[in-house]
Amino acid sequence: MTSGRTIRVQTPQPYDVVVGRDLLGQLVGCLPPGVRTVGLITSERLSANAAAVRNNLIAAGLEVCEITTPDGEAAKTAEVAATCWSALGEAGLTRSDAIVGVGGGSTTDLAGFVAATYLRGLPIVQLPTTLLAMVDAAVGGKTGINTPTAKNLVGAFHEPAAVLCDLDRLRTLDTAELVSGLAEVVKCGLIADPEILDVVESDSTAALDPGGDVVQALVEKSVAVKADIVAKDLRERTSHGSDVGREALNYGHTLGHAIERIEDYRIRHGEAVAVGMVFAAELARLDGRLGSDIVDRHRSALRSVRLPTSYDRADWESLLALMRVDKKARGDVLRFVVLDGIARPAILEGPRPDLLAAAFDAVSG
Ligand SMILES: NC(=O)c1ccc[n+]([C@@H]2O[C@H](COP(=O)([O-])OP(=O)(O)OC[C@H]3O[C@@H](n4cnc5c(N)ncnc54)[C@H](O)[C@@H]3O)[C@@H](O)[C@H]2O)c1
Repeated sequence: MTSGRTIRVQTPQPYDVVVGRDLLGQLVGCLPPGVRTVGLITSERLSANAAAVRNNLIAAGLEVCEITTPDGEAAKTAEVAATCWSALGEAGLTRSDAIVGVGGGSTTDLAGFVAATYLRGLPIVQLPTTLLAMVDAAVGGKTGINTPTAKNLVGAFHEPAAVLCDLDRLRTLDTAELVSGLAEVVKCGLIADPEILDVVESDSTAALDPGGDVVQALVEKSVAVKADIVAKDLRERTSHGSDVGREALNYGHTLGHAIERIEDYRIRHGEAVAVGMVFAAELARLDGRLGSDIVDRHRSALRSVRLPTSYDRADWESLLALMRVDKKARGDVLRFVVLDGIARPAILEGPRPDLLAAAFDAVSG
């Protein structure tokens, strides 16, 4: 039975994110009229998912050019993007055709980037298969690939035509991946929607069950948070003080990215961001903005879904150096998204070095 809630992203060209189960039947209806050939971009680990999508498209009379990429981050390279461009060219896709991306955030980032660049932009429908991709990567129009020097250094803003978050896809996902995605869910709760925190805290076991209604509620609420933020700030303008647009979505990411880099990406994104959010909360507390009760709430919400709240494997000076090259730093001035309260994000620029060190001490375990 098809069920789903639709969240409209009110960008200049609005699009729908559908959250539900058994959504494949809606795919063809999401494609723009006139599409004859679909470039289906997916990861080698998701062949069963991709086969169902391919059969659905073929049954609707469409040609399918299926492109299978290496798994995970290995998909996000210029070489893989070039392979996709060649395959689309050989299949003869035209500007009236479309791309469908099936996979986690790595695949949806690559597929989005290929869609943004091939023929200067083809419509794309995203079918995210991880929790992180459903609540974050596939929604909002940021697409990109990595370079040998850094992650996500090359990319484009390219809004999808639609996003179908089929929660049944999460049933095969490793629990560790689900947990990692929950960090972005908790982030949405902290920066914008305290009801998300209430749901996570009141039934954390259910939050980890991809078959249940609680996960559906969490995905719906998190997508609604992201939709609202990106609709107000499509291209991530620079925020000042409490006037925070899309940058709010980077809550916890400044230290989180530094931890990911120092770990050479062997730590999951959500785990690093979880520690980064506790760090940002401690920083806000030390800066006199946030009560310790809310800092404690960060820790309890994250721990309830098995996310880490401390990190002890790196020296502070190395992390500080990495944070200075973070794309949110301006010159040598560090910038952090912090909270002035739950759902009250703000920007803290150039915090005192002793506060930074003390905040790191508080998350060093
Ligand atoms: N564009 C954005 O706004 C944005 C936002 C956040 C993250 N991202 C990007 O997203 C990427 C991370 O995404 P991710 O965490 O989904 O990782 P991922 O895409 O690498 O997937 C993680 C692993 O799960 C597997 N997998 C995916 N779906 C599965 C399923 N249903 N069942 C079993 N296994 C499955 C994948 O094959 C992979 O091995 C990063 O590259 C990050 O930069 C982008």
